Amino acid sequence: MPTLTEKKSARPTSRAQGRPLPELIFGDLWEYDPSPETADPKLKARYELFIGGKFVPPSSGKYFDSINPANESKLAEIAWANVTDVDAAYVAAQKAYDTVWRKMPGRERAKYIYRIARLLQDRAREFAVAETLDGGKPIKESRDFDVPMAAAHFFYHAGWADKLDYVAPGRKVAPLGVVGQVIPWNFPLLMLAWKLAPALAMGNCIVIKPAETTSITALKLAEILQDAGLPAGVVNIVPGFGDTGAAVMGHATAAKVAFTGSTEVGKIIMRSLAGTDKKMTMELGGKAANIVFDDAPIDQAVEGVINGIFFNQGHVCCAGSRLLVHEPIAKTFLAKLKTRMRVLRVGDPLDKNTDIGAINSKEQLGTIERLVGVGIKEGAEMFQHPCKLPSKGYYFRPTIFSNVSMSHRIAREEIFGPVLSVITFRTVDEAIEKANNTAYGLSAGVWTDKGSRILKMSTELKAGVVWANTYNKFDPTSPFGGYKESGFGREGGRQGLLDYCKLV
Ligand code: NAI
Ligand code: MG
Repeated sequence: MPTLTEKKSARPTSRAQGRPLPELIFGDLWEYDPSPETADPKLKARYELFIGGKFVPPSSGKYFDSINPANESKLAEIAWANVTDVDAAYVAAQKAYDTVWRKMPGRERAKYIYRIARLLQDRAREFAVAETLDGGKPIKESRDFDVPMAAAHFFYHAGWADKLDYVAPGRKVAPLGVVGQVIPWNFPLLMLAWKLAPALAMGNCIVIKPAETTSITALKLAEILQDAGLPAGVVNIVPGFGDTGAAVMGHATAAKVAFTGSTEVGKIIMRSLAGTDKKMTMELGGKAANIVFDDAPIDQAVEGVINGIFFNQGHVCCAGSRLLVHEPIAKTFLAKLKTRMRVLRVGDPLDKNTDIGAINSKEQLGTIERLVGVGIKEGAEMFQHPCKLPSKGYYFRPTIFSNVSMSHRIAREEIFGPVLSVITFRTVDEAIEKANNTAYGLSAGVWTDKGSRILKMSTELKAGVVWANTYNKFDPTSPFGGYKESGFGREGGRQGLLDYCKLV
């Protein structure tokens, strides 16, 4: 059996003991037998639109392919909704709102939302496999994070539906009407749950568009909505591309629109809706900093930084894509980071051992490659995982750039891939200044032993979420959202509900 061997030279030293640390050499990594998840994802060959509680073909007769980015094979055909279909979805939603949903007491709405959560739990493995096939994320993530978190969001909001008098203490709240929502491809089912659950709890009806590369789990959830007996038209799902998204966001019936995606498209939507009285929430890009001080629990911090950027192939708006590391420990920390990165398993997303799966689409892979090319050109030092990538499918080696300065594009632009830029700092003020020196402000991480420093940092960092000695931790009770170009509005918790109601 292969063993872990110690490299004789250039070993990092432990700061505490001054002793050399063993370093794993790639190639000496234990080979695991393949361990593919075998649950049947129960895919249909063709998915229709979900309007008025029924699966209906698109009026144009057009379908597009959803492919598996891990091997480029076609998974299913998806109906492409046009303006006429989006219109029909809004008519169905308005009717459901006027005749059923707005009149239903919260405690009755809660039962439906609760049932959705339970049915999703019942079919959790099937949904996890479908999510992994369609989006490319490792099965251990869709199984352990996406699907359970999606169910948790429905459970949590089911609990709110009969307690809406406590959403805005001292005030009464009322639903807005029909809301239009557009979501991205990085957490297809989870973003769907984030959007649907609070809107439903509050008594709104919905027209939602999933992302074009990941529509399958949304349309599988439509099956659950039917099984839960959700009244027809309360939720309508209209897949398609940007044109469909624009129709959903711009529809006259929508009292509110909610968008998660790129800052670029978010700005287009905001411009097109300027002057209307639609409520809006936007959850856009990020360029989060993970800030590690010399008194941090180093091994946990290494783990947190790795999780922060390589989780879900870096397809995360709050990814810790910048590491700000305190200069006294920078060398040691970087060495440990590389050692840890070298043992990540990259490959088949369906394999239960895989840490890093496929990049969601060919387009996204192109974006990552282009920005990494810029990083090399600008003179940053690149270190990549030495693994062999599968010959088919869209994959990218986990990558660390060191010697990055704040003027580099890789320090400023969202790459949305498994690419970490390492920047050093000397003082607390310099760390805050560098962390805030970005157009975005979604999240940040602080790693230090000092409670007072955590409080100072979390006050001064211009980020919607600041994690302390951890990263990428989510809970339905905890509001999430950004500052500056990362958008506005909150999702989750009491604050998230406030964005789906009016005060009366
Ligand atoms: P995108 O913003 O184009 O797509 C997100 C969603 O918006 C999709 O459902 C898409 O069909 C829809 N859409 C596109 N154009 C639209 C329009 N004019 N009106 C309404 N809806 C529209 O993002 P894309 O192109 O998939 O990714 C590009 C970059 O965006 C990524 O590299 C990443 O940096 C960022 N991004 C950020 C996300 C986040 O969670 N904040 C999620 C996805 C992408
Ligand atoms: Mg796909």
